[in-house]
Amino acid sequence: MSFDLAHWQGVLANKKPHAILKAALEQFEHVAIAFSGAEDVVLIDMACRLRDQVQVFTLDTGRLHPETYRFIEQVRERYPIELDVLYPDAEEIRDLVRRKGLFSFYRDGHQECCQIRKVNPLRRKLATLDAWISGQRRDQSPDTRKHLAEVELDQTFTGRSGELFKFNPLANWTSIQVFDYIETFKVPFNELHLRGFRSIGCEPCTRPVLPHQPEREGRWWWEESAKKECGIHRKP
Ligand code: ADX
Ligand code: SF4
Repeated sequence: MSFDLAHWQGVLANKKPHAILKAALEQFEHVAIAFSGAEDVVLIDMACRLRDQVQVFTLDTGRLHPETYRFIEQVRERYPIELDVLYPDAEEIRDLVRRKGLFSFYRDGHQECCQIRKVNPLRRKLATLDAWISGQRRDQSPDTRKHLAEVELDQTFTGRSGELFKFNPLANWTSIQVFDYIETFKVPFNELHLRGFRSIGCEPCTRPVLPHQPEREGRWWWEESAKKECGIHRKP
């Protein structure tokens, strides 16, 4: 497999989601979309217009909102996707909860719990792929996502044969464009969006934001904004 990253970074710079997604799906056979159960559903809708069988995975941390579980199932039924639901290692979780209880993140930060519930299962999945597709956008965080590339070499994880590439088709879109797409194409969405939730993660670590507050303010609100990453995209 040879993927010329510099070439594709030039070709895809400032391109629309459709072009970035198309490149990812055409250049790689072992590629999958990471679906969080939020507005990144637009990637699934777009991909299903480009390909018959789309690989999608979601990290079930065990702590998602009931609305998110229902929404994930709705998406699985609606689209011709192969949805791989990933779970944390039972012994790792058991050990954490035995040592620190079910809400340790409020006391000593979210890293340890996110590592077990998200990062470790993700690492196992990515080791079976050559590339993955995320729904990150630059407008999600002036602190951590401002310089997000359309396609990049994953600096944290490795793939099937070492190098792992990562596509961010929504990098150049704003939240408004994403919700316009949802409305225009009648894409199903997580009902939490109707209750002020913009960025949606685990239930104990996510809360709604006010209309003009940055969307990631509602995530891990007890921590500083520069640390609002769980480790699946970059180190917190
Ligand atoms: S997070 O790192 O803070 O949790 P965020 O919620 O902004 O990420 O979502 C950005 C992208 O990360 C999503 O569009 C999706 O591609 C991926 N992602 C986040 N959470 C999950 C999850 N639970 N399962 C699969 N992918 C996820
Ligand atoms: Fe744990 Fe919160 Fe991270 Fe979810 S977001 S894995 S509950 S610390």
